[in-house]
Amino acid sequence: HFKKLKDGLFSAPSSKESKDTTVFNVNESESTVSITVVGASGDLAKKKIFPALFALFYEDFLPKHFTIYGYARSKMTDAELRDMVSKTLTCRIDKRENCGEKMDQFLQRCFYHSGQYDSQDHFAELDKKLKEHEVGRVPNRLFYLSIPPNIFIDAVRCASSSASSGNGWTRVIVEKPFGRDSESSAALTKALKQYLEEDQIFRIDHYLGKELVENLSVLRFSNLIFEPLWSRQYIRNVQLIFSEDFGTEGRGGYFDNYGIIRDIMQNHLLQILALFAMETPVSLDAEDIRNEKVKVLRSMRPLQLENVVTGQYKSHVRGGITYPAYTDDKTVPKDSLTPTFAAAALFIDNARWDGVPFLMKAGKALHNKRAEIRVQFRHVPGNLYRDIGTELDHATNELVIRVQPDEAIVLRINNKVPGLGMRLDRSNLNLHYAARYSKEIPDAYERLLLDAIEGERRLFIRSDELDAAWALFTPLLKEIEEKKVIPEYYPYGSRGPVGAHYLAARYKVRWG
Ligand code: NDP
Ligand code: BG6
Repeated sequence: HFKKLKDGLFSAPSSKESKDTTVFNVNESESTVSITVVGASGDLAKKKIFPALFALFYEDFLPKHFTIYGYARSKMTDAELRDMVSKTLTCRIDKRENCGEKMDQFLQRCFYHSGQYDSQDHFAELDKKLKEHEVGRVPNRLFYLSIPPNIFIDAVRCASSSASSGNGWTRVIVEKPFGRDSESSAALTKALKQYLEEDQIFRIDHYLGKELVENLSVLRFSNLIFEPLWSRQYIRNVQLIFSEDFGTEGRGGYFDNYGIIRDIMQNHLLQILALFAMETPVSLDAEDIRNEKVKVLRSMRPLQLENVVTGQYKSHVRGGITYPAYTDDKTVPKDSLTPTFAAAALFIDNARWDGVPFLMKAGKALHNKRAEIRVQFRHVPGNLYRDIGTELDHATNELVIRVQPDEAIVLRINNKVPGLGMRLDRSNLNLHYAARYSKEIPDAYERLLLDAIEGERRLFIRSDELDAAWALFTPLLKEIEEKKVIPEYYPYGSRGPVGAHYLAARYKVRWG
């Protein structure tokens, strides 16, 4: 296979690539990038990948020479793929005036090849077609595995065993889930590494591509006023909240095998936690950042079942509409105990964070859609104003980083109500992105695809990070499953199980 033979549909890894931008500058005119979306007929490809690629093209971020290939089993012609892509355009660009014109140009660069994921012959046919577009240029290849995880390895194995494609780079973006526990994740990593070097594997966690998550490090490390406060000395608790106001409709089959802890907490929320809590990296280099993140993950206290609450949504009638229960989905067993909600208290046993609860909450079919980081600061010691006002006796500062929707950074402060008396008030210092910036925020997939093309690994998960994340959650997940822990049922569209409030109260926290 290619890793040893340095040939295949996957071209040879450019020796220990770091940030390889040669394709864009020095060799722009001599190199080309072929982007193959494996599983092109699927939901993610239509909803996210093609729209993101188009947005990058529209904004002139794609290299001069590129070709996009869709690959899947479904029979489709190039024209049908183009039709599908143009119909499913959901990106921010579709509102622009000349979108149609640019779309036509983009579609001319899109092609389709139908094949099985476990057929070396079919991938060899793809290889042949890619070569036709690559002729005379250094061929760089990006594969996006947008397929169910049980076929990742087949696809990688088959793609890597066909004819050589020369001396460009090859990178493979892998979508979550990366296994469902430590064991299966390690097996997946081992299998991938039979065919790929670690630095060719781009494990995507699209939350890392969200604007406000990217901004976390800027906020911390380029503002003097935050970093000195970023520790147990001043921070009382940190909340990481994810909620969706819709259920698992349409994805029940996948979801039931994973549950909310694997779907959201073990990756999206934990990644945010690691970025939030890490020490200052030596530099902005991907390895330096990931080294710091992994230290945080390894310093985490094993998760206790008593520090976790699980829930599952049940049917609810509101305004004459019946909202389904999780188990009403035909692909979900009627007696499923899979949590669609979880709350957990986590601790980082290091000098900076000793004793500070990091409270995570993630749920589907709740009353709103949001992703937020809330940082509650300690009380002001010897507060001169403690007796003024009523509820303000305990008012502490809070920093809210609203990842979505309506991105914002809000700092809650105490101030005097204007006038001759002395009354205190709480006010928000508000960086509201929509008001501050007229340009739309790119979708996370745009940033991540661009980074993968540029060889920037900062926002992708390294295998040791993944191991540490699974090491934290696997024993808990096993315990929940072995003990058949019954989730607390909550009505569709509610605020979730009341148990989450008791859990937070145990640590003197109120959810924001
Ligand atoms: P789909 O279920 O839509 O699958 C993608 C394509 O894979 C399908 O169009 C189908 O193409 C092929 N396929 C599906 N099931 C099988 C099977 N059992 N055997 C062989 N081929 C199959 O997946 P998504 O597009 O939703 O997701 C792709 C990947 O991204 C998955 O790993 C998913 O977990 C992950 N993901 C998805 C998200 C989403 O919002 N959809 C969000 C985050 C991650 P064909 O039949 O034409 O070969
Ligand atoms: C995915 C989860 O990773 O993230 C989904 O599998 C979830 O269950 C989705 O809906 C949320 O992503 P976003 O970007 O819409 O918040």
